[in-house]
Amino acid sequence: MSERAAKVIAFCRDLAVCSEEPGRTTRTFLSPPMRDVHRMLGEWMCRAGMEVSIDAAGNLRGVRRGHSKRRLLIASHLDTVPNAGAFDGILGVVLGVALVEAMAGHESGITVEVVGFSEEEGVRFGIPFIGSRAVAGTLDETILTPPVLDAIRAFGLDPGGLPDARLSPDTVAYLEFHIEQGPVLESLGLPLGIVDGIVGQSRLSVTFEGTANHAGTTPMAPRKDALAAAAEWICHIEAFAAAKPGLVATAGAITVEPNAANVIPGMVRVSLDVRHALDEIRRGSAVDLVHAAERICERRGITPGHSQLLDQPAVIMDAVLRNKLASSVEAVGYPVHHMMSGAGHDAMILAPHLPAAMLFLRSPGGVSHHPDESVIAADVEAAIEAGLRFANNV
Ligand code: GLV
Ligand code: MN
Ligand code: MN
Repeated sequence: MSERAAKVIAFCRDLAVCSEEPGRTTRTFLSPPMRDVHRMLGEWMCRAGMEVSIDAAGNLRGVRRGHSKRRLLIASHLDTVPNAGAFDGILGVVLGVALVEAMAGHESGITVEVVGFSEEEGVRFGIPFIGSRAVAGTLDETILTPPVLDAIRAFGLDPGGLPDARLSPDTVAYLEFHIEQGPVLESLGLPLGIVDGIVGQSRLSVTFEGTANHAGTTPMAPRKDALAAAAEWICHIEAFAAAKPGLVATAGAITVEPNAANVIPGMVRVSLDVRHALDEIRRGSAVDLVHAAERICERRGITPGHSQLLDQPAVIMDAVLRNKLASSVEAVGYPVHHMMSGAGHDAMILAPHLPAAMLFLRSPGGVSHHPDESVIAADVEAAIEAGLRFANNV
């Protein structure tokens, strides 16, 4: 095993201990363990000769100046889903620092900035990509709600500084390393994949307002059970998506009020995540699913409601950078495989603002958003080798 690949993997596993919950990895936007991640990664960035800072969105940033002002941005996210693995997001940041370290002592023209985005998963506030949107300069009042602003202040940061978080005008390219989070590369026996594009996603919050009442004394017939309505809708989502090629739709989070065994549920909130490579199909499907919720509610005498939290279009990665990445992979001796990403990534937020590329690393067992997530050391070494070629050629 190469020493530098082993170091990357060990560092990711060490950082996975920085968690809001003992014994498992859960690290949401600007939660206390994010400070430990900033400290540990920031120290490594300093040792790698980088200037380190934290911007007003809580993104950790390290810059290694080259002879030229032209800047390559290498980034991914530091936050996690609940009970996460050790590699989703953070591997891309750690690989960026490893790349800078590997560049030390080499004549290098380009300036490299490595950014660990504070938020991509959307777990804490239901809104994803807060970190990368700050860098893209696309944060607005739909995202900067009072709770988000309070979280920024509570972390000791000043929301007034958000405009300074924007991308340096010298940045010429964006590169994101990420685990594939699916089975394709493994099934092909390949370590790396070139991402051609990322499917779009809609996220909504759908509410079912019924009537809470005594579970023992209220007969079944006149009940307005919000959870029974939501359950019917959730089963409909599954059947609806299964019948549409390429569509995935998930009700992943639910809150029930008052959430007591002996009270008929009065209020339920369900998250809806809808994805498809074609934006028209994704948007139309989200509308159809909201209508289905309304029909179910009407039949059951329940009041429906919904709000859209995200309408993120699909993006295509930059054609020139895709080719450069493909040549880099080929040059270090690996077959080139192009693929779409079903998972969302910070690259989709930056891609409309500068040429962007993404390199996937094989995910053993296709496992992700799960503690068993892993990477293979030889694949990490292949990514460093390909990344070095890319950085010298961009
Ligand atoms: C990010 O992990 C996503 O939801 O695709
Ligand atoms: Mn994720
Ligand atoms: Mn991710």
